Amino acid sequence: MNLQKMAEQSLQIHFDRAIGSSAPPRLIEAMRHAVFSGGARIRPQLCMAVAHACGAKSLELTQAAGVAIELMHCASLVHDDMPAFDNADIRRGRPSVHKAYGEALALLSGDALIVMAYQVLLNAGREHPDRLINLMQTLSEAVGVPDGIVAGQAWECESRADLGQYQRAKTGALFVAATCSGAQSAGSDPQPWRALGDFLGEAYQVADDIRDVIGQAAELGKPTGQDAQHGRPSVALELGLGGAISYFENLIDRAVDSVPDVQSAQALRQIVRLESERLVPSTICASYKSSSAPISSSLHP
Ligand code: IPE
Ligand code: IPE
Ligand code: MG
Ligand code: MG
Repeated sequence: MNLQKMAEQSLQIHFDRAIGSSAPPRLIEAMRHAVFSGGARIRPQLCMAVAHACGAKSLELTQAAGVAIELMHCASLVHDDMPAFDNADIRRGRPSVHKAYGEALALLSGDALIVMAYQVLLNAGREHPDRLINLMQTLSEAVGVPDGIVAGQAWECESRADLGQYQRAKTGALFVAATCSGAQSAGSDPQPWRALGDFLGEAYQVADDIRDVIGQAAELGKPTGQDAQHGRPSVALELGLGGAISYFENLIDRAVDSVPDVQSAQALRQIVRLESERLVPSTICASYKSSSAPISSSLHP
């Protein structure tokens, strides 16, 4: 079974186990809508790939950690699409949760998914309390303050934001959690894997900024042109498309170089390269690299 199928399957199992049957039916529907809607599942896949590279004997705890991370990611998307943030009607090619179920249930389903993430981890970690503590810490750092998703989103409420700090908090932090949790769930030291999450996570958000400018909404399954419309700090708006693409390629190279010298290092480097190609195909990189005129961003100095 490939990593994506494994991620999808473990998400389904843990979600079904945690949701029960007594919750209000529309809340359950809204939560399902938020999670089972065709996400790429890149974060749990990364978590499993690192655990494998660390020689994990069983992937049970790793899969739960990956599920917890993906649930946090889905929750962040539900809240991110709400009118108070990006006011986006479409996510993963379908109506966003508040469009389909209203704002109250969108808010509550995001909250419930955040709590479910901790429940999944707690239930799976009973046999490894030492690993569980580390995983809880890693997950909390990735979503809270000072440098997690909440902080990242809150930089949008400031009149000035450091672009790198904003990108690393809103997106990079959960990638760091994915690589570090992969190692921790296998009982290994997470430090050697931090850089991979850092570089790949930032590259991911830079790619999102690029795709927001050159992508097609139908293809991406979400609206484009959002960063300019909402005055968001964006690498594409800051450096121009050519500059943003060079920056993206540099981050991918650094992610590849950061992979520790383990037995399956080549396979992991290949995953990073393939992911880079999926995000911004090299033919597109080549055609845009000559245009580097900066376009101004209204938030970032
Ligand atoms: C979208 O993340 C939001 C960003 C952090 C750029 P993904 O591109 O991983 O979204 P899904 O999960 O595949 O929909
Ligand atoms: C993605 O933010 C990171 C989150 C915390 C949700 P964006 O607003 O840039 O992502 P998309 O483009 O809506 O997926
Ligand atoms: Mg946003
Ligand atoms: Mg958004």
